[in-house]
Amino acid sequence: MLRDYEELPTDELFARIRRAKEQLGDDLIILGHHYQRDDVLQFADFRGDSLELAQIAAQQHRARYIIFCGVDFMAETAAVLCAPDQTVILPEAEAFCPMAMMSTGDEANQAWEMLSDLWGGDLLPITYQNSLAEVKALCGRKGGAVCTSANAEPIFRWALAQKEHLLFFPDEHLGRNTALAIGIPEEKIALWDPADPKMSLKRAPGAKVVIWKGMCYVHTRFTVAHIHEIRKRHRDIMIIVHPECPAEVVRAADQSGSTSTIIRVVAAAAPGAKIAIGTEINLVQRLADKYPDKTIGPLALSLCRTMHLTTPQHLYAVLDALTAGRTVDRVTVSPEIARWARIALERMLTVK
Ligand code: 13P
Ligand code: SF4
Repeated sequence: MLRDYEELPTDELFARIRRAKEQLGDDLIILGHHYQRDDVLQFADFRGDSLELAQIAAQQHRARYIIFCGVDFMAETAAVLCAPDQTVILPEAEAFCPMAMMSTGDEANQAWEMLSDLWGGDLLPITYQNSLAEVKALCGRKGGAVCTSANAEPIFRWALAQKEHLLFFPDEHLGRNTALAIGIPEEKIALWDPADPKMSLKRAPGAKVVIWKGMCYVHTRFTVAHIHEIRKRHRDIMIIVHPECPAEVVRAADQSGSTSTIIRVVAAAAPGAKIAIGTEINLVQRLADKYPDKTIGPLALSLCRTMHLTTPQHLYAVLDALTAGRTVDRVTVSPEIARWARIALERMLTVK
């Protein structure tokens, strides 16, 4: 079926998407993450970073259908937060985040049990939004919360105000960057390797924050050498990176922040400013196109392959089905997992 849509001329395809959106009216909203391709993102009713899209999904009470142009964990979050009579659709079922899969619920639970025994329960679990629903559910069950790159610091502070120790899934780099940013010294941060829990436990006793050994291949591609190289060519350049980058890269950059923070910083820069950005290339290119009066480029070329999988053809395929009264590519989360994941997400949405 997708093949039929692939043969449509672009103008015709775009016109059909617009008509289907009109026909579905208030029954539909389309959410799009900043890393989506322009030809898809142009149809989003709302675009945002992970936190903003979770907040929007939680507030959409009218739409019967929420199409999420992003990756699986984002659509799962929307499915957990929306009402039971709302349907969340991921137009490309293969659009998953490999980092989210680096911690399964069982592995996370094993680490939780081992560290809880070590510290007599004086421990709170926090998971990055880029995680499986079952890991969010574990955090919900154990009094913890979800965070995104936009609110990791207040969530870490919130956790450490309640308990002496924190266990963070599944991004080592966001975990370390956040712990360092709130003043936890490097020697109080321990790495948990799910492939070797016994060795991980041996490293834990002196730690305040334990971070999971997971990473994003899009952001670990950026290096300090890239920063030195670009500064050699442009002495007055400003460098901003996403906090999924390694700590040494964040330290060598001028600023770091979520995708929406990066957008705000670029928008606020003076005409003529030179800015190199360490994040996914679709966002960097969009900013370069939007601000021709500034010199904007990537720190290095880095594409999120699964974000890039969603095409206008995928979007039209699900819209075409909806207008014909059929729902395809629905994202569901089992009720028990959803119940606890929702608690962890709601805690995140209330912490300031
Ligand atoms: P943001 O929450 O900053 O939008 O990032 C999401 C993401 O997947 C980064 O890799
Ligand atoms: Fe996952 Fe990295 Fe892609 Fe974000 S950029 S969705 S963390 S693989």
